Amino acid sequence: MKKKVIYSAVQPTSQLTLGNYLGAVNNWLKFQKEEENDCIFAVADLHSLTIRREAEEVRSSTLSLLAQFLAFGLDEKKNILYVQSHVPAHTQLSWILNCYTYVGEMSRMTQFKDKSAKHADNVNMGLMDYPVLMAADILLYDTDLVPVGIDQVQHLEIARDIAIRFNNIYGDTFKVPEAKLGKAGAKIMSLTDPLSKMSKSDPNPMGRINVLDSEADIVKKFKRAVTDSEAVIAYDPENKPGVSNLLTILAAAEGVTPERAAEECEGLMYGHLKLRVADAVAAMLKPVREEYNRLISDRAYLMQVAKEGAKRAAKRAKKVLRRAQNAVGLLVE
Ligand code: TRP
Repeated sequence: MKKKVIYSAVQPTSQLTLGNYLGAVNNWLKFQKEEENDCIFAVADLHSLTIRREAEEVRSSTLSLLAQFLAFGLDEKKNILYVQSHVPAHTQLSWILNCYTYVGEMSRMTQFKDKSAKHADNVNMGLMDYPVLMAADILLYDTDLVPVGIDQVQHLEIARDIAIRFNNIYGDTFKVPEAKLGKAGAKIMSLTDPLSKMSKSDPNPMGRINVLDSEADIVKKFKRAVTDSEAVIAYDPENKPGVSNLLTILAAAEGVTPERAAEECEGLMYGHLKLRVADAVAAMLKPVREEYNRLISDRAYLMQVAKEGAKRAAKRAKKVLRRAQNAVGLLVE
């Protein structure tokens, strides 16, 4: 049986949040358990250069994200875990794809427009070209499925468009990937503003739990979580977004439905609900944090994992890159 190639990547911009963990990472852990999947997970360091950053921070956050992947329980033998810039085929293919992508379609991308507005002093070519590099990431591995959040769906669509366009000109070269939205795991909202998503870039640090937060920080943040004035515990995202978010988090941490979590907490005061959720989250993240601390102090090991992963990734990427180079007429030796 041919395995399904599942590809995803995360930018090493800051620590992953509880939202990333319960949303994306939990799904990745599920995929790696299923025998029919062949999973590739990358640290998208090149993408993170589109916003100006200190070199040392780029370096340390790249290593940190790799350590987080491992601490979550992603297996470096079962999956391919690697750093994007270690596999030159990504930039090589993205140049070719650039020549089959229109300026107009890139300038209409929602994220490009948002980020250009937010970083008006640095609207660089990379920011605009970001989706083409992402298309290269995906297409290089003959990917079947790309688990992404809703904010990346447009980028996946453009990757598909580019692949289809290229195939129409040159014949079957790229596998056309599908988005895997499906059961996106739990959608976790900000603790301070439960109407918006818990985000790694939220300027208010109290709104998000980072996966590496200390127990004390976790408790402090949940204690201050926004609720409402009703003092009734019920799962009702529309009318009680704050309380419902707490129940969603509790449910995801304990592997039950939010409705079930609401039943279990019936009659509790909000203060007690918050502590209960904080305890559940702290218990869930403790082993992750401990494993992370162990790994991050072993730089040699992490570099070895990155090197092995890049070697395996490069071997596969090279074949697809060759196909594309041949198709467009580059002199391939
Ligand atoms: N752009 C993605 C994000 O910010 C990260 C990413 C880079 C990615 N390359 C990818 C995601 C390929 C899926 C597939 O979330």
